Amino acid sequence: MNFRTNVKTVAVIGTGTMGCGIAQVFAQAGRKVLMYDAVPGAVERALKTIDKSLSKFVEKGKLTADAAGAAKANLKPAGLSDMKDADLIVEAIFEDVPTKRALYAELAKVVPPDVVFASNTSSISISELAAASGRPEMFIGMHFFNPVPMMQLVEVVVGLKTAEPVVEFTMNLAKELGKTPHRVKDHPGFVSNRVLMPMINEAIGCYSDGVADANTIDEVMKLGMAHPMGPLALADLIGLDVCLNIMEVLHRDLGEDRYRPAPLLRTMVRAGLLGRKSGRGFYDYGK
Ligand code: CAA
Repeated sequence: MNFRTNVKTVAVIGTGTMGCGIAQVFAQAGRKVLMYDAVPGAVERALKTIDKSLSKFVEKGKLTADAAGAAKANLKPAGLSDMKDADLIVEAIFEDVPTKRALYAELAKVVPPDVVFASNTSSISISELAAASGRPEMFIGMHFFNPVPMMQLVEVVVGLKTAEPVVEFTMNLAKELGKTPHRVKDHPGFVSNRVLMPMINEAIGCYSDGVADANTIDEVMKLGMAHPMGPLALADLIGLDVCLNIMEVLHRDLGEDRYRPAPLLRTMVRAGLLGRKSGRGFYDYGK
């Protein structure tokens, strides 16, 4: 099996919160980045967010103005047909298997067969997506964490058919981005969300049982457990819809009651209280 290991151009597909951050870190690492999103205006919004993030790093002396300029110059809005020029595909679209399947079918028409596909999925089986991609040996999970430019970890998720050289390639690539990769097996929630989401779900349970208010629950975990953010503030950062989706995957695929989503989490999502992105979750973010 031959695949491209010299990645000069990366296509980031899906430029929401995660895709935007992923595009930024590849651009900062000197890769050309083709940015595509099916939602009109999403790429432009992502470019503005990256601009702000780079400016913040410059302001804080973590990045030179020249390096920020070079990173910005590496970013290019693109259409699906431009994916023929990519040496690596990183997919970060929303978590829906039929939509991802449809995307992979489109990509198969244009992306050369020696190009690796990496998915940033936080909850869907890598082996299932790999099967849908038509190139299962060259398919891998590259799971980044929000905010991507700040967080050190890349969880490298190995599907049942992922080839060993592709794992090695992905681990090295993550290091070239300045990240620390850790290899995990494809299993519901991988390691990160198998551990994190039940904790967030329990915090929501505590809140709805009236054990304490949101701020107290968060302070307990910050001051008592040295977490950088409390679980409810973190749920708001991640998005309550994303949290619910992951709990549903854990509940369905592991089949145990302890993974049942907190009823309040479901109600808040139904009410459109999704956290920071909607302006309100456990906290109010104004407009
Ligand atoms: N780019 C540049 N600067 C950024 C930034 C970004 N993307 N995001 C935040 N900053 C800046 C802030 O603007 C802030 O600047 P000022 O000091 O000038 O105000 C600075 O970084 C520090 O931010 P904070 O003051 O909020 O302080 P912090 O030390 O708490 O750092 C944090 C912020 C890195 C988000 C930290 O709180 C943290 O690590 N939180 C936990 C995040 C986490 O757990 N993420 C994983 C979520 S799970 C996931 O993503 C995967 C999944 O599958 C669900």
